[in-house]
Amino acid sequence: MKYIKINELNQVNPEKDIFVIKNVVKKSICADLNKWINFQLKNKKPNTSISSKNNWFYRVNKGNTYFSSFILNEFKKIKSKSVHIVFEELFKIYLKLGLKEPLKIKNLNQFRKEFYKNELGNHEITFHPYIFSYDCGTGKFAWHSHKPVFQKFQLLLNTTMPNKDYFGGETDMIVSNKKKEVFGDNFQQGDIFSFPYHLKHRVRKLDFTNAKNALNKRNSILMPIHPKSKKIVKKLTKFFDNNKIY
Ligand SMILES: [Fe+2]
Repeated sequence: MKYIKINELNQVNPEKDIFVIKNVVKKSICADLNKWINFQLKNKKPNTSISSKNNWFYRVNKGNTYFSSFILNEFKKIKSKSVHIVFEELFKIYLKLGLKEPLKIKNLNQFRKEFYKNELGNHEITFHPYIFSYDCGTGKFAWHSHKPVFQKFQLLLNTTMPNKDYFGGETDMIVSNKKKEVFGDNFQQGDIFSFPYHLKHRVRKLDFTNAKNALNKRNSILMPIHPKSKKIVKKLTKFFDNNKIY
């Protein structure tokens, strides 16, 4: 595991390295985003839209996995400035890490434009802004991995504080038979970690802390890349399987 600053991205290879970029997003922005998430959780019912039919709040509850998920395919309709800031930060890092193909979006203006109009009909491979919120006592994500069809690595921002807002809730990662990496209290509020997307990972169950003003949850911000059309996802995944790269 490597620890770098935002101006040291040229020192890592995201397709191979596992690393934490320290202090990317200000704590005040993280706190503001946490407030927005809390407001939604309190006032919205799962499986309903938020401010647009392209923005949804889901509860994921399957086997050993339980968390709340916000999928914001049209976040221009979201008034919170912090929501915009965190996804723009993730985009800027994707660009700095050299992510070009198969994306057509090549600069921040294009990125903003993409999410400033309703493009559900557009099947191009694009970004999907997600927020995952794990509650203490119930939140967890079972072991799984992703086929690196559309992206070779994943970035994930923590807007909450380990050991204050939650205990446990570590992200475990299997690097090889002998090597395991853990993102626990080394993954602080405002930090972003990156890992090769095909590696197996999970989120351990979260426990409560006794800390004053604890949020009692872990909030993760991520922005996977895939086509909007399920048909195209299927077709490309099949192609990937037939031409095994990993
Ligand atoms: Fe995952």
